[in-house]
Amino acid sequence: MMIFLVGVFVGILLMLVPVVLGARRNRISRLHLVESMNAISEGRHDVRMYAYRNRGGQGVIFHAFNHMAEHVEQTFAGLSQERDILRHILQNMTTGVIYLRSDGQVQMVNDAAARLFRRPVEQWQDRDHWTVFRNYNLGAAIDHALLFGTDWAEEHVIREGLTVLIRLVPISSSARTQNRNDHAHDVLMLVTDVSEWRRLEHMRSEFVANVSHELKTPIAAIRGFAETLLDEDEGDTEGTGDAGNPMRRKFLRTIYDESLRMGNLVQDLLELSKLEATDGRVDPVSVDLQTVVDRAFERLRHTASNRGVDFRLASAPRVNVWADPDMLLQVFLNLLSNAIHYSSEGSTVTVSWDVLIDRVKVHVRDNGIGIPKESLGRVFERFYRVHKDRSRASGGTGLGLAIVKHIVAAHGGEVGVDSVEGEGSDFWFTLSRLDTNLAGVSFPLH
Ligand SMILES: Nc1ncnc2c1ncn2[C@@H]1O[C@H](COP(=O)(O)OP(=O)(O)OP(=O)(O)O)[C@@H](O)[C@H]1O
Ligand SMILES: [Mg+2]
Repeated sequence: MMIFLVGVFVGILLMLVPVVLGARRNRISRLHLVESMNAISEGRHDVRMYAYRNRGGQGVIFHAFNHMAEHVEQTFAGLSQERDILRHILQNMTTGVIYLRSDGQVQMVNDAAARLFRRPVEQWQDRDHWTVFRNYNLGAAIDHALLFGTDWAEEHVIREGLTVLIRLVPISSSARTQNRNDHAHDVLMLVTDVSEWRRLEHMRSEFVANVSHELKTPIAAIRGFAETLLDEDEGDTEGTGDAGNPMRRKFLRTIYDESLRMGNLVQDLLELSKLEATDGRVDPVSVDLQTVVDRAFERLRHTASNRGVDFRLASAPRVNVWADPDMLLQVFLNLLSNAIHYSSEGSTVTVSWDVLIDRVKVHVRDNGIGIPKESLGRVFERFYRVHKDRSRASGGTGLGLAIVKHIVAAHGGEVGVDSVEGEGSDFWFTLSRLDTNLAGVSFPLH
């Protein structure tokens, strides 16, 4: 009996051995799987699993795991390669790149930016932008871009000899911002060194100014001599000698006219150089707008009546503007003489102005030949002439409107033109308004 019982017990034990061994193997496999998954999540993507014989479907699970691990490894390798390429590009760019998170702190900065601002990369990371850029305008523009997503670009002199163009590009970050109270934008800041351009521009402008100055005297001499010889011809009523020869007179007239044209060109170039040299600095005072318009009308009345053109001042409230009177007169002279030259006989040139809240918008309108649409954006460029023949005939050089643009910009205003070809043009500019008695005047908000 005893032997029988022992036999049964041993039998049961022998039957349990594979079950126990199987359960143990399963536990080890589960542990192995968990460990491998942890390894992957910790970044060790090269982990793989191998089954010892294919018991209980382990092989299928391990195979699926290995497939996943391989995919993860490849994706990560691809991403980190892309990241390395981008990092190399960023670090070797000459443009400074700074990435500001929506909380206003610096997330990334490249070597070029560190060099331009003379601040080591370590001193940027996670700092508030206003501790890095101690410039009020820039700080305000960054805050504006972070809050409202507004673009901004401006030139800044960082230090002597280093001028940079700073551009702010807002990037919408709402997609990854969970907290609704957060700012909605990250900001990419691009900093380009434009010192060399500015230096070359300065050199060019100095060169032009020097050449124009040198040319002034000989041109005046040529004009003077041509004028004297022409006078002599006119005085020579008997027609003795060379004087009175029609060919000679024609040549002298051409020399005189061309020297006048060159004199005007040199004068305009000097004017432009002067404006550039002062770098937009003017000495504005309170000026009665109508007085300046009257002076301009007076100066050009003779030319206008020769061409059968009438001047008209539209009724507008008297207003004082903040301007340099001589420069403002120059603006009117240039616009009015254009209006005369590019109009036909019998037409009218009208000056008027709209009084806005803080500005005055002045219009010089003509019903002349107008400007084609494609040229509207270019007429304020130097030497740009739409009507080349007409312009040359009037002694034009294409600098008049460039001067107007410079002067108005130096006063903090804007210029523009609306025109329909064949119907006429409306050249306008704005100036700061000074308070005068404007009771009863309503201000259009444009
Ligand atoms: N009122 C206008 N109507 C039509 N075209 C105009 C008018 N004003 C200017 N333009 C066009 O714009 C061009 C540029 O004008 P701008 O005054 O700069 O030069 P310009 O008159 O040719 O020469 P200048 O330097 O002597 O003034 C002109 O050549 C002309 O083609
Ligand atoms: Mg002109």
